[in-house]
Amino acid sequence: MISIFPTLAALSAAVADRLVQIAQTAVSTRGRFLWVLSGGSTPEPLYRLLAHPPYRDQMPWRSTVAFWGDERLVPPDTAGSNYRQAADLLLRHTLIPKTHIVRMRGELSAEEAVHDYTKQLTQWTTPPRVWPRFDLVLLGLGSDGHTASLFPGPISTAETQQAVMAAAADYGDRPAPRLTLTPRVLNDARHVFFLVAGGEKREALAATRAALHQPMKWPAQRIHPDDGELHWYVDEAAASVNA
Ligand code: 6PG
Repeated sequence: MISIFPTLAALSAAVADRLVQIAQTAVSTRGRFLWVLSGGSTPEPLYRLLAHPPYRDQMPWRSTVAFWGDERLVPPDTAGSNYRQAADLLLRHTLIPKTHIVRMRGELSAEEAVHDYTKQLTQWTTPPRVWPRFDLVLLGLGSDGHTASLFPGPISTAETQQAVMAAAADYGDRPAPRLTLTPRVLNDARHVFFLVAGGEKREALAATRAALHQPMKWPAQRIHPDDGELHWYVDEAAASVNA
């Protein structure tokens, strides 16, 4: 499903409305809301909205558990950290318990960080499952078609066999060494939302959503929930409505 909005502000408000509904339903049916956050600039207005009334007061923060889809391998107090971005803009303004902030430890080596996050995931589920079934995954889309830290190129064994893997890619001025959840985990979610805004995303968005399947070239095509809802929240500039 795709919804197109005139501005990123309108897109963010629509996502906030739906996110609150999903969170409330998850908590009333399963007792907790397992939410995977994304990095990048696109979710920033959403995080700001959720940090303030009315959304802040509608969210079941005490029953919310925050995970990340990807992280840059930098310490959590540095500017490139996805954790720090979400903490500063959102989490520190809420009642989410500290023990419910399940961050990827970017201060570790890639190998240690993969091992650490894999272990943290198992702690939020019941064996034989090795990762939780997330209620909602937020994802962005790079102008090169990447999502989370799944970048163009061959699909590695780690990507098909692990829950968490290391990655390295240059994208803008962002740190290259990264950690990411793999499609195995992301596609298991109940809801996956892509947030895409800006004319520089136009080609990647069109190619990703096209019938031609080229997942090595357009990595976001690797995301197709097995038994969940995939919803594209897109602004007009990215959708080329007026192009
Ligand atoms: C990251 C992200 C990444 C992001 C895209 C889009 O850590 O860099 O999770 O996948 O979502 O690069 O970024 P923008 O929203 O800034 O365009």
